[in-house]
Amino acid sequence: MTFETIYTDGDIDTNPTSNPHLNDLIDVRYSRRQTLMGGMSATAAAVFGGMLLTGCDDDNDGGSDPVTATATAGGSSSAGRVATLTGAAIGQVDSVNWTQTAGPTVTLAGANTSTATFIVPGAAAGTVLSFLFTAVSAGGSVTATTSVTVGAASLGFTAVAKSLADVVAVPTGYAVTVLYRLGDPIGSGVGAYTNDGTDTTFSKRAGDHHDGMSYFGLSASGTPDANGNARGLLVLNHENITQAYLHPNGATSTGGVRPEAEALKEMECHGVSVIEVNRSASWAYAPTSSFNRRITPLTPMSFSGPVRGADSLKTRYSPDATTGRGTINNCANGTMPWNTYLTNEENWVGYFKREVGDAARRAATGAVGVKANTSLTRYGKTESNTGGNYGWSTVTPADTTSTLYSRWNITAQTGAPADGTGDFRNEIFQYGWVVEIDPFDAASTPRKRTALGRMNHEGCQIGRTIAGVKPAFYMGDDAQNEYIYKFVSATPWATADATAANRLAIGDKYLDTGTLYVAKFAADGSGQWLPLVFGQGPLTSANAAYPFASQVDVLINTRLAADALGATRMDRPEWTAVNPATGEMYCTLTNNSSRTVATADAPNPRAYVDPKTTGGQTTGNANGHIIRLRETGDTSEATTFAWDIYAFGAGSDLDAANINLSGLDPTNDFSSPDGLWFGLPSNASGTIAPVMWIETDDGAYTDVTNCMLLASVPGSVNDGGTRTVTNTIGAATGSVTTRIGKTPGAALRRFLVGPKECEITGIHTTPDGRSLFVNIQHPGENGGPTNITSSWPANQAGTVTTPSRPRSATIVITKNDGGVVGL
Ligand code: FEO
Ligand code: CA
Ligand code: CA
Ligand code: CA
Repeated sequence: MTFETIYTDGDIDTNPTSNPHLNDLIDVRYSRRQTLMGGMSATAAAVFGGMLLTGCDDDNDGGSDPVTATATAGGSSSAGRVATLTGAAIGQVDSVNWTQTAGPTVTLAGANTSTATFIVPGAAAGTVLSFLFTAVSAGGSVTATTSVTVGAASLGFTAVAKSLADVVAVPTGYAVTVLYRLGDPIGSGVGAYTNDGTDTTFSKRAGDHHDGMSYFGLSASGTPDANGNARGLLVLNHENITQAYLHPNGATSTGGVRPEAEALKEMECHGVSVIEVNRSASWAYAPTSSFNRRITPLTPMSFSGPVRGADSLKTRYSPDATTGRGTINNCANGTMPWNTYLTNEENWVGYFKREVGDAARRAATGAVGVKANTSLTRYGKTESNTGGNYGWSTVTPADTTSTLYSRWNITAQTGAPADGTGDFRNEIFQYGWVVEIDPFDAASTPRKRTALGRMNHEGCQIGRTIAGVKPAFYMGDDAQNEYIYKFVSATPWATADATAANRLAIGDKYLDTGTLYVAKFAADGSGQWLPLVFGQGPLTSANAAYPFASQVDVLINTRLAADALGATRMDRPEWTAVNPATGEMYCTLTNNSSRTVATADAPNPRAYVDPKTTGGQTTGNANGHIIRLRETGDTSEATTFAWDIYAFGAGSDLDAANINLSGLDPTNDFSSPDGLWFGLPSNASGTIAPVMWIETDDGAYTDVTNCMLLASVPGSVNDGGTRTVTNTIGAATGSVTTRIGKTPGAALRRFLVGPKECEITGIHTTPDGRSLFVNIQHPGENGGPTNITSSWPANQAGTVTTPSRPRSATIVITKNDGGVVGL
């Protein structure tokens, strides 16, 4: 019985129950008071305590003040889920309220009603939260207590089945909202997207290929808000384009020359978006917010850190090597605790054209040119007269003084100064960096953080920040057989920096000075961080493969320096993520078709033939794995670590002895892990037993399922044991002993499957974990205007009768009962 049904106005008895009449209870109370007190249990005393202390009814108001109250807890007691408190009282009640009396503080919804709810916090299992229910009338009040004992966090959804359907599928009890699609306008004066290839002005529209993403809470006054669960800035990368859909009839060229308007559109579809998002009834972005911003390959940049001003960065646009134009192929991200966003330049090499003859011209300039040739080769920029993604360098601009297009051709021009100030031979050295953006200042100039090295930067995530300890930033170099890196700041963390107003100055403090390390894994489960410091070990002018001249030279040629140190060649390092509870670092190794039986090693132990049912077979490490490491002493400053492999991707039907080593089943089998992210420590998905999210970018299992998002509650390094794998490709066979975590089982579960031909990437939540943002990248990427292979997201609400060009988009997922997503 709840209080609303109780007699309230002194005239009409609406009480439908057979509870004792008030006067009967008062009589009992007075006559048996001592007996009751003496004989009650502790719990009963709590229930009756309020009555006994405050309910003595001597005001002669009609005798209907409340005399008993009860309180019960229901719902779930599992971390992150919704718990319910139900109070009841007998007698006259003017108001009720719930307050918390013990345990980690929670926010009570409906605290002034009989039924209050709250999200069970991520506290240690067994933690008790106590609550007091009070029913009040003019004559007094009665109270009752109840408590909730926190249960261990665990995934709380039914796995989504593998699927080839053209839709985003999520578990029962969850809802999907499409939030921000390719072409959506983010500035005034820009029309709705027609999605027929005729749209222009992408400097004020969403770009293509949504990728890494961070959410920053936004206060009413426009400053960072750590509790901003209904208003925020969403910052996301636009890695690349599906070129065919951007133009009415696909890309065009005349005699090999691209039209300027098409090239400009394609450039502006790259880069980064900053958008304001708000939650009222549902989430929506604010199309005309003053925070909205597009950063593109045309946006002015500033160089920061040791390489600023270096000779190797000098171009016709930037003769003093302190500035640059834009950022390209922005893949994964980094969310800095001082409220800035890191965007990372990944596959930038392909955008540049390097004509046949360039190497000879550079070599003719002397030792510097010879070294540049070595560097260009190591980073994969070979000579070709037809190179350069999308042919941007072929454009003849209407403004003949413009170098927006010619800068994509890095060929050394005959007669131009050898120092690079007369052409764009050095433009390519301006890319491959981590770039920091202040999303709260739309006028700020992004800074390229050169201390973090130059590579195919996938992402850059900071580990745990502990006052007085130098923070670490973990990074993958995504190409076959490349390395895992970490940067350790020279400056110990100061907590006050998290709320500093000059955010890029804080970035200067932590990101411009420090030590860059590369990982070397040993077969015994140990590992070393090798410092990339000029003058140490082989990083000197005596190094035969590449004579290093300075720390600037080491940083620009990070890969060559890591080669010299003997770092471990990995199966394509993609995202990194740090467990907020343990500090352990996880890194996806997406796949590696060039891993062979001969080169398989303990940290990259599989080389096999993947039996794809369509489209031939993939050899090597076709399905990828996720490696993790624990720093010695659990400190970000460590130079050694322990490692094992959290999980191996595989179809659940593959050889359990040598391929499906993690015992994946149909509820959790996956291939090509890429995006990786832990829940935030500000909610239950990032405390005690944090949730790790895994996103796939796959081509090996797409005969069975579209790409997906999985949730897991992982254990810790060395919770499994060793395993010996026998590898076989054709006649080659061999065995490798590796280190593998415990079988994930039900603690790894498929949460989402995306539409056709997409990659699932980019992931972040609101601080409360109740809104999960995810990016759907390049749905229908294998089609074009006359062969539309996906109509997503137009078909998310239901099948469309006429095919609609697909659009990369950000979605937001919420749980229908308001709980933390995933738990
Ligand atoms: Fe942009 Fe390595 O994924
Ligand atoms: Ca990626
Ligand atoms: Ca990938
Ligand atoms: Ca991609």
